[in-house]
Amino acid sequence: MQDARFTDQTAIVTGGADGIGKVVATRLASEGAQVTIFDISVANAEATVGELAEGGLRADCEIVDIADEEAVAAAIEAVVARSANGRLDVVVNCAAIVGPTSTPITKVSVEEFERTSRINLLGTFVMTKQAITTMQLNDYGRVLNFASIAGKEGNAGMSPYSSTKAGVIGLVKSAGKEFAESGITVNAIAPAVILTPMVEGVDPAQVKYMTDKIPMRRCGTLEEVAALSCWIVSPEASFCTGFTFDLSGGRAVY
Ligand SMILES: NC(=O)c1ccc[n+]([C@@H]2O[C@H](COP(=O)([O-])OP(=O)(O)OC[C@H]3O[C@@H](n4cnc5c(N)ncnc54)[C@H](O)[C@@H]3O)[C@@H](O)[C@H]2O)c1
Repeated sequence: MQDARFTDQTAIVTGGADGIGKVVATRLASEGAQVTIFDISVANAEATVGELAEGGLRADCEIVDIADEEAVAAAIEAVVARSANGRLDVVVNCAAIVGPTSTPITKVSVEEFERTSRINLLGTFVMTKQAITTMQLNDYGRVLNFASIAGKEGNAGMSPYSSTKAGVIGLVKSAGKEFAESGITVNAIAPAVILTPMVEGVDPAQVKYMTDKIPMRRCGTLEEVAALSCWIVSPEASFCTGFTFDLSGGRAVY
């Protein structure tokens, strides 16, 4: 076990069945957290719980759509009910979809825009709202939402995704300020390109467009994402809220 920063803590990782969420869930569990994965992919969620168990780590999963508020509220209640400490300490929201890529706005349908917004923005709103509602009971919590460099800079060919990620940055600023005098922090991370299944499914020309803009001339690694994420949601990170942390190999120096 690494430094056990999350001993006796209860954590939820959305999108934890794959990609960034999976490594964040693994790192939190390896540092002592009681982790529950929220995901819509039954097969991947069960496989990830199995992989963690093989590595001697315990995680549970709830199959839940993060944009369905009733389902999210019920799943959070179930997490707290089976937790050892009877509370919710950490929520990391990784669930999202990429939506249309290599597609100019003139070719994006309203349905595609709505679907991307529903999961990426409404889902993040629902998770943040329900997480804080529960965390308020103990006046402590860490909420971390995944934005993207696309939300800061706008990726050509990805207007729905870029818009929703800009929305996540604004949401975190508002919610962070609203709870700044409590023990609850709300932050985001804006990564550039990290090699995950989401990126593997994107048109290689679109990936090249994004990677060419990174001064370090490489993708970020999953370990780099997990390291920053777990610091932000640790008790140590007590003077940061409403902020979107950069993870872009020098692309965004603001
Ligand atoms: N990979 C990158 O390069 C990159 C860059 C910037 C930002 N991000 C952001 O980081 C986060 C994680 O990305 P990733 O690359 O690991 O993605 P991924 O596609 O590998 O994993 C996303 C997970 O979310 C789940 N999911 C999708 N819709 C859901 C819903 N409605 N409810 C519950 N679960 C749902 C999927 O089943 C999947 O397990 C996302 O918010 C993404 O936008 C990723």
